[in-house]
Amino acid sequence: MTTLEPKILEMTEFGPLVETDDGSLTIRHSGHGQDFHSTEGAMYEARELYVVASGYLDALCVGGETLHVLDVGMGLAYNAAASVAAWLESDGKRSVSMVSLEIDPRLASVVAGGGAPWFKGWRDAWLAGPRAFGEGFTARLQHPKSAAVCDWVILVGDGTKTLKSVTQTRFDFVWQDPFTPQLNPGMWSSEWFSLVRRVVSEGAVLMTYSVSRVVKDALESGGWSQQKIKTPGRKRHWLRAMPR
Ligand SMILES: C[S@@+](CC[C@H](N)C(=O)[O-])C[C@H]1O[C@@H](n2cnc3c(N)ncnc32)[C@H](O)[C@@H]1O
Repeated sequence: MTTLEPKILEMTEFGPLVETDDGSLTIRHSGHGQDFHSTEGAMYEARELYVVASGYLDALCVGGETLHVLDVGMGLAYNAAASVAAWLESDGKRSVSMVSLEIDPRLASVVAGGGAPWFKGWRDAWLAGPRAFGEGFTARLQHPKSAAVCDWVILVGDGTKTLKSVTQTRFDFVWQDPFTPQLNPGMWSSEWFSLVRRVVSEGAVLMTYSVSRVVKDALESGGWSQQKIKTPGRKRHWLRAMPR
């Protein structure tokens, strides 16, 4: 996330739409001015950090039980749509079930409406997730090559509360992507990470863009072990955490 000065393409109800370096679009939040994504690329980060570096893409390639994904701070749905697209473009060896947490009901409506302004330039596999919603915030996609399905549910409200309603699921992957710890400390606290820790599988992987000391400490005291990993791009490190 950054506040450098890119070209404003149009004004939306959430703030100005701006282009990131890989050509994908993000929003500069009208309230606090922070971008929803790194200038390096919204699509790049969704794919390289969350889908690839997490091991999610590899997990799709091996058969097995349903993969459960927790998408924290759905925002413009880059991470969620990238997760669905990777599944659609896999051989369909397993099903996916994803829960997105989003506090802003307007964002949930625009994403589930399937036609957000930042979807411009998204290819079909990326659009498939948002376009699978009917009325409400539940979508189901059928894999084109197999009997596997992808279920995607958006829980609208404060994630520290809505996550407590998820009791049966054990998540295998967590996309930890709220605004920065300075702006949104509650979503990076040890209380938050211990809440998430309670709903993940033993082999779960949590990925995040923040490598700040405060995040590492909160993860450790919330029951996670964490390590910095090298990125393929300009930002040098991301963080991967696993339950301790
Ligand atoms: C950096 S943006 C996420 C970008 C997003 N992951 C994507 O792929 O486009 C952070 C999001 O977290 C949401 N958020 C902030 N506080 C939250 C909370 N307590 N519970 C759920 N979502 C929250 C914000 O409304 C915002 O949409």
